[in-house]
Amino acid sequence: KVLILDFGSQVTQLIARRVRDASVYCEIHPNDVSDDFIRSFAPKAIILSGSHASTYEDHELRAPQAVWDAGVPVLGICYGMQTMAVQLGGSVEWSDHREFGYAEVRAHGHTRLLDGIQDFETPEKHGMLKVWMSHGDKVAALPPGFKLMASTPSCPIAGMADEARGFYAVQFHPEVTHTLQGEALLRRFVRDIAGCKGDWQMGSYIDEAVAKIREQVGDEEVILGLSGGVDSSVAAALIHRAIGDQLTCVFVDHGLLRLNEGDMVMDMFAGKLHAKVIRVDASELFLGELAGVTDPEQKRKIIGRLFVDVFKAEAAKLKAGDGGHKGATFLAQGTIYPDVVESGGTKTKKATTIKSHHNVGGLPEQLGLKLLEPLRELFKDEVRALGVALGLPAEMVYRHPFPGPGLGVRILGEVKQQYADLLRRADAIFIEELRNTIDPATGKSWYDLTSQAFAVFLPVKSVGVMGDGRTYDYVVALRAVQTSDFMTADWAELPYAMLKRTSGRIINEVRGINRVTYDVSSKPPATIEWE
Ligand code: XMP
Repeated sequence: KVLILDFGSQVTQLIARRVRDASVYCEIHPNDVSDDFIRSFAPKAIILSGSHASTYEDHELRAPQAVWDAGVPVLGICYGMQTMAVQLGGSVEWSDHREFGYAEVRAHGHTRLLDGIQDFETPEKHGMLKVWMSHGDKVAALPPGFKLMASTPSCPIAGMADEARGFYAVQFHPEVTHTLQGEALLRRFVRDIAGCKGDWQMGSYIDEAVAKIREQVGDEEVILGLSGGVDSSVAAALIHRAIGDQLTCVFVDHGLLRLNEGDMVMDMFAGKLHAKVIRVDASELFLGELAGVTDPEQKRKIIGRLFVDVFKAEAAKLKAGDGGHKGATFLAQGTIYPDVVESGGTKTKKATTIKSHHNVGGLPEQLGLKLLEPLRELFKDEVRALGVALGLPAEMVYRHPFPGPGLGVRILGEVKQQYADLLRRADAIFIEELRNTIDPATGKSWYDLTSQAFAVFLPVKSVGVMGDGRTYDYVVALRAVQTSDFMTADWAELPYAMLKRTSGRIINEVRGINRVTYDVSSKPPATIEWE
């Protein structure tokens, strides 16, 4: 296993992710663990992370002496390289301004780490790598025994190696995707240089995670807010695997879910997994409080607040315990790594708002519960792989994201029961058609080819004809987008035949809707949702 020592960089988890991508097990620990800890951890390799991008008082952060005495390969990244230089007898030039960005580094000499790893085919750029650099401070003199491994014009020592001891360091960041060969470099380090076998899989992650949860929870009880979304579902399945009936899931049905969604969640968790799930049907409460409210942000606030209230009330009951139960002491959340980064303030305000619906912020403190977050280190695609490995159905795990306020923000203006019922049925038809329409070029369904797709209810009436009669009914808009990060998005070029079938079915099957439109706006300037 690989030990990653974290000097406080925001991207340390990305290092772990790349190591896992190379099928090698790793753990992240703070940079100031004890020498004894390192000896008992017995790593096959150690990676030293970068440090917080904006802290310059951190020059005193050091790796424990045992890192250098462990007799295993060590890779220093960015700050990790600088501390390696200082601790092993070289020197660093500290600076208070920093340069970020793309750079081309030239590899020097022959090192096992970079041998054969390159970006360019042309002879004049032979050995050059496209990398993501972030430096200000830089190594000024190599420590004894080290040779130069890479350089750029503004950073003459951008990489160094003492191959006899297995010490390597790079000033650039191999863990970010902008460094094109970064994955190859980290794989080279952990697999070829450190000799890790590469037999780690998501399946083994389950065993480790289960053991950790059992240790953390002991014989106490846990509450989890189940939304039916990917993250809370995978967290529930994993925790249930670990502690069975010590887990109680609370599923708040706010009446703004998709067609049959509530029943599907119950079938899966209560039915198939035999987990304890309390379903709270709060649709009357939500619809009641939403009556007459048209402003989107106002609607979001109401839904968010009621959600927290309802959940809190249930959690308080569970905390109090009853005859057979001593009461819950943990609140579990499906927080995943990108949420952790978002709450660190690196993303927009909207991202924070989004979070507040899912991972009910501040609740554990208010309820006096301890927090259990078993997915904290994983990225979305890893969470999905974990879900599949836990036996959750692919339709659930690969589902498009669904906003916390649900159909509440897909019914424009005032939310009414009748609108929600019409929208649910139209939306279900659209999703069914997307799932059933296979693109011949890729062999994938249009559901899988789009990132998010849904119907939106427009509370306007338009005229139509049906049979001999005139109709005067509502409109739905279909929205389907392709995006990798949901910050920007393009509308999907769905096949006309599919759109035609979908619109025909909606108008025929959903009495009350007589017109269907397709939204051809990209983000920006539009957003993905209509509200
Ligand atoms: P927009 O509409 O801003 O959406 O382009 C970007 C992504 O965020 C989701 N979204 C929300 N998710 N609560 C959520 O949990 C919200 O209030 C909310 N608003 C938008 C949206 O579905 C899309 O995936």
